[in-house]
Amino acid sequence: MNPLRFSPLHLLSLALLLQVVLGADPLYHFCSNSKNYTSNGTYETNLNKLMDSLYYSVPPTGFGLDSVGKDPNRVYGLGLCRGDVSSSDCKSCIADANPELRKRCPNDKEAIIWYDYCLLKYSYDDFFGEIDTKYIFYMWNTQNVSDPTTFNSKVRELLNQIATQAYHTSKLYATGELVLGGSEKLYGLVQCTRDLSSASCKKCLDSAISDLPYCCDGKRGGRVVGGSCNFRYELYAFVNS
Ligand SMILES: *[C@@H]1O[C@H](CO)[C@@H](O)[C@H](O)[C@H]1NC(C)=O
Ligand SMILES: *[C@@H]1O[C@H](CO)[C@@H](O)[C@H](O)[C@H]1NC(C)=O
Ligand SMILES: *[C@@H]1O[C@H](CO)[C@@H](O)[C@H](O)[C@H]1NC(C)=O
Repeated sequence: MNPLRFSPLHLLSLALLLQVVLGADPLYHFCSNSKNYTSNGTYETNLNKLMDSLYYSVPPTGFGLDSVGKDPNRVYGLGLCRGDVSSSDCKSCIADANPELRKRCPNDKEAIIWYDYCLLKYSYDDFFGEIDTKYIFYMWNTQNVSDPTTFNSKVRELLNQIATQAYHTSKLYATGELVLGGSEKLYGLVQCTRDLSSASCKKCLDSAISDLPYCCDGKRGGRVVGGSCNFRYELYAFVNS
């Protein structure tokens, strides 16, 4: 797996400032680059209907999925908002995500985009309930901690602990904190898309957490973000309370 190196701390802070002023920028996206639909064809019409449906179904609970049309033009899609995000922030995130994704992946029959607050994915393929191993990326804070060995094991401890909580809840979401030495605290978040079973959520999070050495070894903050689950840890509080 190829780590992507694109998110130094100062860029993140700048992004956070800009988010407040301008609305959020996407974290990342993937176009499938494998199959295209024709402009103004049935697939596009179905995709538009799907996006309208998700715009209404996702915000109330933070998760929604739907499929529209008949083969070979059937489109499957889902949206997920971060577990702590209000319905109104969820709604604006999904509203931004659709045109942005369509702009970034014109005519692509499958694509996915992530923001801090939401993820939006569609495909010609019935992917519901399957762990997405295709679309995954890493982010990390470029700053190192002073004692990586101890820190890495604390990160793993916290993430394993909240992963266990997450897959035992219907929201497949959990956050937690761990007091480190001195006045420092570690904050973590894990979440799965709710089309997954509890067992698949566990499997997805276990696999993401096992990527820790590749994404975030000794880093002050990090994320493994996939189409079915993700985690994030930081040395500051980042979840809305
Ligand atoms: C899909 O369309 C894009 C441009 O619209 C093109 O670059 C790409 O090669 C096409 N992909 C396939 C698989 O046809
Ligand atoms: C698709 O429809 C739009 C609006 O009706 C039109 O402007 C555009 O030229 C059409 N594109 C194609 C490729 O037919
Ligand atoms: C963090 O550690 C890595 C590997 O030891 C090193 O390459 C990198 O320059 C360090 N980053 C900072 C910001 O000190």
